[in-house]
Amino acid sequence: MLEIENVTAGYGTLTALQDVSLHLASGARIGIFGHNGAGKTTLLSVIVGLVARRAGHVRFDGVEIAQGRVPETVRRGIAFVPQGHNVFPNLSVERNLHVAGLLFDRGFVKEVFKVFPVLDERRSQRAGSLSGGEQQMLALGMALMTQPKWLLLDEPSTGLAPVIVRNLVAQLHQVNQAFGTGLVVVEQNVPATLKLVEHALILKSGRSVFQGEARELAAKPDLWEWF
Ligand SMILES: Nc1ncnc2c1ncn2[C@@H]1O[C@H](COP(=O)(O)OP(=O)(O)OP(=O)(O)O)[C@@H](O)[C@H]1O
Ligand SMILES: [Mg+2]
Repeated sequence: MLEIENVTAGYGTLTALQDVSLHLASGARIGIFGHNGAGKTTLLSVIVGLVARRAGHVRFDGVEIAQGRVPETVRRGIAFVPQGHNVFPNLSVERNLHVAGLLFDRGFVKEVFKVFPVLDERRSQRAGSLSGGEQQMLALGMALMTQPKWLLLDEPSTGLAPVIVRNLVAQLHQVNQAFGTGLVVVEQNVPATLKLVEHALILKSGRSVFQGEARELAAKPDLWEWF
């Protein structure tokens, strides 16, 4: 269970997130949508404790998430994949996975290769020479090495071709089903993400303006007016 309760957060005098609440059962899949600057990245950052909250609570399985102690949060089972390709370019694919899983079970790399066979094929290749899509898969694989209960993804489909996005959606679904990993996915690609998630949250100027079933949002003819 991931509980975000009346969270307000910001930077200096700016309030980027205002009184946002969200309750997610273990293994749930949610999409977070909204315009640029709506507070999506801030929400993920608050969940992992990268950005301090000014008010409210974030609890994981009933225990408050410590602020500013990200490694501890990761060890508790929350993995965050920030925007961009977060890999060590000069290390091989396999070495990247081992480094990411240092504090965890190194043997789990076999499971990661099952989800992303392309990483297995390229296990000895320098990560910096992978294509953008492959680097995104590697970043996801690195997060999986921590065997998280929750995977927080900030715009994972950015820069990927439509066919790769479809693959990614299928792979994330597989991760959710195979390991029971909950997914919190921030995306600009709303239609693709609505195929993956069950729940949706729309942020506007830091406030929640819609929370409900993804199906309900997908069926709205005026979907775009929410943004
Ligand atoms: N480190 C920071 N210092 C100061 N202001 C920040 C910082 N990070 C974000 N902001 C501001 O907080 C607000 C919310 O930013 P945030 O990054 O959460 O938006 P977002 O919804 O992720 O946008 P995008 O879709 O462009 O990634 C914006 O007005 C932004 O300028
Ligand atoms: Mg962002």
